[in-house]
Amino acid sequence: MNFHDQINALEDKHLLRSRKISENAQGVEMLFDGKKIINFCSNDYLSLANNEQVKEALIQGVKQYGVGSGASHLVSGHSKAHQALEEALADYTGQQRALLFSSGYSANLGVFSALRDDVDWVLQDKLNHASLIDANQLIGLPLRRYLHNDLASLTSKSEKQTGQGLIVTDNVFSMDGDCANIDEIEKIANFSNALLMQDDAHGFGVFEANIPNNSIYMATLGKAAGTMGAFVAGNDDFIDYLVQKSRPYVYTTAISPSLCCATLKSLELIKSGEQKAKLLANIDYFRNFAKSLDLNFENSDSAIQPMIIGESGKALELSKKLLEMGFYVSAIRPPTVPPNTARLRFTLCANHRFEQIESLLTKVADVMA
Ligand SMILES: Cc1ncc(COP(=O)(O)O)c(C=O)c1O
Repeated sequence: MNFHDQINALEDKHLLRSRKISENAQGVEMLFDGKKIINFCSNDYLSLANNEQVKEALIQGVKQYGVGSGASHLVSGHSKAHQALEEALADYTGQQRALLFSSGYSANLGVFSALRDDVDWVLQDKLNHASLIDANQLIGLPLRRYLHNDLASLTSKSEKQTGQGLIVTDNVFSMDGDCANIDEIEKIANFSNALLMQDDAHGFGVFEANIPNNSIYMATLGKAAGTMGAFVAGNDDFIDYLVQKSRPYVYTTAISPSLCCATLKSLELIKSGEQKAKLLANIDYFRNFAKSLDLNFENSDSAIQPMIIGESGKALELSKKLLEMGFYVSAIRPPTVPPNTARLRFTLCANHRFEQIESLLTKVADVMA
């Protein structure tokens, strides 16, 4: 195999991905190559990743439990901190139980791994996150997709299936920022003998979760909660079944107990609602200011605000120009998004200030002119 040629081919198509190395904590103001930039591409929506109370909780957690968990949950790696976090997450989501995973990617894989022998068909929204698509395919269940957020398409495809089904949707779509209609999807799932699974990676902590009875809920802790890991919540029986049958749960080291201590503190701060109120005000301000400048953003009320550019090279060029002006906005290109829908994906955080949003959007208007 010629890896070099493959890399060059990606570069020629403006599809090469690269990493920028940050020199300080995740947040609104970051340092790259010694230069201060305002970060508009973080998933740290509630600005908790560098919160003093969360950091202190992590430090206390390290003092009590050390650094590593040392083993998988089913051997000796499940501490009181893991247990307390699972109980707090179950309580917060109004579910009987919650189960921790190392990441959202492995949680999604974990659900599919457990369900593999009990599900006959799967229908996924066309724009679901890559981790859900990978989970489906890696586990070897046939993947069928319905048109994005299109209930008619879901209905007509589900009517053709027989046996036990699984209908899977992002709650807030990661590259578009729009939301699924959980109530209506649940009705279709009930009607077609399917379980509903929702991935709330981008809604958890920001919006109230809507979790129908006997459905599967997955959310991540590396975004609004500001730490890392993920959890699946549901009823007692489903969580017991996952513990027995989910290979990515069974065959991996439990996350650090100290991270659970930090996430417990994050959850407390999420519940207080202060950061969420700031984020929602920022989303509102961003939308209104963008409108006043006639900027063409997609319709989204979430922290994710995409501007579709189309061609990958153009999106990359705009992102570079904004970076030179001191604003980090990532260019999202295929295969993360469908062909010809490369976009600038702006994300808002609680600690952004209105003047930073104004200054960003004014620059965006300049570079688009
Ligand atoms: C919708 C969605 N689900 C799952 C994941 C994966 O979560 P994690 O980053 O914790 O692996 C992401 C992360 O980007 C996501 O956007």
